[in-house]
Amino acid sequence: MTSDTWNVSSSVDMIQTNIVGVISTVAAFLPVLKAQRNATIMATSSALAFLPRADFATCCASKSFLHSWLTSLRHQLRKLPIEVLELSPPYVRTELTGLSQAADPRAMPLASYICEVMSMLENGQHPRGELLERDQARRWAERVGTFDSIFAP
Ligand SMILES: NC(=O)c1ccc[n+]([C@@H]2O[C@H](COP(=O)([O-])OP(=O)(O)OC[C@H]3O[C@@H](n4cnc5c(N)ncnc54)[C@H](OP(=O)(O)O)[C@@H]3O)[C@@H](O)[C@H]2O)c1
Repeated sequence: MTSDTWNVSSSVDMIQTNIVGVISTVAAFLPVLKAQRNATIMATSSALAFLPRADFATCCASKSFLHSWLTSLRHQLRKLPIEVLELSPPYVRTELTGLSQAADPRAMPLASYICEVMSMLENGQHPRGELLERDQARRWAERVGTFDSIFAP
């Protein structure tokens, strides 16, 4: 997406799916989950929540929203046995942006990513409720001073 091709309609669709979809799903299930002895809510954010790609502006912003919103939801539910997890995938070989992504050698193979996530879940490796695989560089870029060089090298 560039400033020439950007349009409001696709951004609204993205916000509807990535933000309103998650909030609506959580709202619908919360009464049911509150009645359980243990429950987990897991929503899919992105490593791009922490440091955007300018060509996916609305998508990245929607993931930043989710990161913030899930952080607050986790705090609000902290006295209930409802775990709130944020799955933040790196660049993975799916068809998310088209066929080329599914074949891109720079992307992590989907099977490897699934194995990593299952291992993190089994071992409880999700500090702060975040399941972040290898793209830790984006997570901490602002803190370690690499934000600008990664964002616009
Ligand atoms: N792959 C990556 O590199 C990557 C990186 C960071 C984050 N993520 C996130 O991971 C999640 C899954 O992506 P993916 O890589 O697995 O992509 P994918 O293979 O293209 O899967 C996307 C899924 O979302 C569904 N979907 C799309 N629009 C929808 C809508 N309006 N309502 C309901 N379902 C809808 C699709 O359903 P249909 O199959 O029926 O169309 C499909 O099952 C996304 O939230 C994405 O942002 C992916």
